[in-house]
Amino acid sequence: MASRIPNEFINELLERVDIVDVISPRVNLKKAGRDYQALCPFHAENTPSFTVSPTKQFYHCFGCGKHGTAIGFLMEYEGLDFLDAVESLAQLAGVDVPRQGGRGPRDNHANLYAITDKARRLFQNNLASNAEAQAYLQQRGLNAQTIQTFQIGSAPDAWDYVLRSFSPAEHPLLMRAGLITQNDSGKVYDKFRRRILFPIHDRRGRVIAFGGRALGDDQMPKYLNSPETPLFHKGRELYGLHLARKHSDSKTVLVVEGYMDVVVLHQHGFANAVATLGTATTPEHVTVLTRYFDNVVFCFDGDKAGRAAAWKALESALPHYRDDKSLKFVFLPQGEDPDSFVRGHGEAAFRQLLDTASNLSDVLLKGLQKDLDLDKLDDRARFIERARPYIRQLPKGQFRTLVSQHIEQLTHTEIDWEASTPGRQSAFRREETPSADDRAEAALVSGDWSPVKKAIALVLQNPPAALEAPWPASVSGCGHKGAAILQELLETIRANPQINTAALLENWRGRSEYPHLNRLAATDLMLTAEQASKELRDMAVYLQQAVNRNKIEGLRRKQAQTGLNAEEQQELLQLLASRVQRTQP
Ligand code: UTP
Ligand code: MN
Repeated sequence: MASRIPNEFINELLERVDIVDVISPRVNLKKAGRDYQALCPFHAENTPSFTVSPTKQFYHCFGCGKHGTAIGFLMEYEGLDFLDAVESLAQLAGVDVPRQGGRGPRDNHANLYAITDKARRLFQNNLASNAEAQAYLQQRGLNAQTIQTFQIGSAPDAWDYVLRSFSPAEHPLLMRAGLITQNDSGKVYDKFRRRILFPIHDRRGRVIAFGGRALGDDQMPKYLNSPETPLFHKGRELYGLHLARKHSDSKTVLVVEGYMDVVVLHQHGFANAVATLGTATTPEHVTVLTRYFDNVVFCFDGDKAGRAAAWKALESALPHYRDDKSLKFVFLPQGEDPDSFVRGHGEAAFRQLLDTASNLSDVLLKGLQKDLDLDKLDDRARFIERARPYIRQLPKGQFRTLVSQHIEQLTHTEIDWEASTPGRQSAFRREETPSADDRAEAALVSGDWSPVKKAIALVLQNPPAALEAPWPASVSGCGHKGAAILQELLETIRANPQINTAALLENWRGRSEYPHLNRLAATDLMLTAEQASKELRDMAVYLQQAVNRNKIEGLRRKQAQTGLNAEEQQELLQLLASRVQRTQP
């Protein structure tokens, strides 16, 4: 999918912005030789394998294999789409993004964001004149400042309040944004009626959805959320995250269950509260949380549902465990949630409660021992079998070793944690089959390094130096797989002699070769600049010889079949002569 942003602009942008400046505010980079290293933000690990190369303007993780340019990093890390990532980089560089054609809506949902924001304002306006909603919020103890901060609004008791407030031309967008729905007989009506409305913001503070709380206690369901829309994916978003990132100077985030909990905690000075949106805590949530915060404290109700929710969160967290992040669990007294607790017992009491948080390992070990008596041999065996899949979920490292050792001590048993449970492992292994019909692509995928593949890696990693090598006029004539790719790369560099690795790669985004080129750009060739120049030269000479050889063969064939004209005779002689020259010392 080619963007409507000119390639030249992307190239310039990637030359202007230093990837280190993009990554370093988000990841704790340490200088290591020419490059920078850090714990990978995209997978759990305890020794740094995430590398940022200022020369290539490229990042690469040797652990999980994620790699890319500054644009790719922003897409992956901030969850942005391509155009938003470019926009964001352009802001950093202080330039405007030009658009080809200059008209037509960008397909980055700008119009959907506009609709949800307009609805947000509409609901806020409604609250100003909605006595029932105001009384409700007052009874829940929210002050005007909090209501403003969270942009809380309301929907009146009507079927067509939203519908009437937008022009018919906007109705399809309202539908896509989940603000109106249609019943079986085709009647269109408002999704939210007689409810308090909590706008749900994305990480950048844009309104993407709503949570609506029933005003009457007889109304069902108590909370109604926007459906999944192009802007809203429940399992990924956290209510209050944009505020928690902005307002809390602490490195700690509190994860609670409800909208009201977040809002009330914020009002009581806990600006670092976020909530999942009526779903269990997903692994995606955990990834986002540990990305932005060092300490994650899950605060769940003390009841059975709360304990179940905590266990779900724990299960989502295990594969993402990292030694440099702390994950803790707090359980509220029976019948309380953070909202009722902080209002009933005060801020100091809530702070004290947070101090009693249990470590992940304690919750895990206690949960695994539930209903078991470790004095009994059968229960000890059951404990080990229960624990095995959980231990295996943990990334290999100190923590996993300590927890498994602890279980061995508890059971007085030496345990083979890797003992096979049939059929478990294969699910994670997927065969990578290159599309057989794409010869060029196959050349890049294959494990052995063909000369062209090597040349592509060298060219990608040393764009300006690549131009100094004596490439054949048309590399494609060498007959090797992937030659067309190499030719295209060389042409791009000739047209933009200042281009860097990252910009070169961006020109291929969306094409089937893109992931393979990324991999080649990431591969450490272990060469100094001089060695790389020499290799490039050797490759160019080698390919020129291959081109010549092919030409000679072709001409000879023709000579034998139909004879050569004077020009072709001349060419053949030249080619043969050049071959002799080159074999001389
Ligand atoms: P709770 O039922 O614990 O409600 O739901 P609450 O947050 O304490 O609500 P108040 O205090 O009565 O206003 C916790 C969360 O579960 C989701 C919502 O996200 C809610 O905040 N939920 C609950 C739903 O999505 N739908 C429901 O019907 C109920
Ligand atoms: Mn509540």
